[in-house]
Amino acid sequence: MMGTPRLDMPEKGPTVEWGEYRASVLCQVCHGAGLTGSQPPDPDSPPAPDLRTTQSWGLDGFIHTIREGVTPSNRELNPAFMPWHEIRNLDDIELEALYAYISTL
Ligand code: HEC
Repeated sequence: MMGTPRLDMPEKGPTVEWGEYRASVLCQVCHGAGLTGSQPPDPDSPPAPDLRTTQSWGLDGFIHTIREGVTPSNRELNPAFMPWHEIRNLDDIELEALYAYISTL
């Protein structure tokens, strides 16, 4: 039924559980199950990288990358394929949760 909350939806917070839930909704379609990298649905897109490599960036580096669209190694992310213009609007709790989840992978 429309509008029925998912029973397995965790409570929002800077937690691994919330991050895993948000990643399953927001990131997995392109970055693949477990965020280990995948070909996004758009065949013109470059592959979406394995996000485990972002573990070494630290939380600040991760948040900076999402908000500015530039990685710590100064690589610009193409907003046509990596929708950081939208993802950047997630609040700090969401990004902290995503990073906490990525850190467990
Ligand atoms: C529509 C597909 C798509 C979605 C959805 C998506 N990404 Fe991406 N992402 C990409 C692509 C493609 C790249 C590579 C972009 C480039 O090289 O310009 C990328 C790159 C990245 C990078 C840089 C990784 C690196 O090693 O340089 C990070 C971090 C990232 N994405 C995080 C996320 C997170 C977190 C989410 C979910 C909140 C997400 N992405 C959702 C397609 C996507």
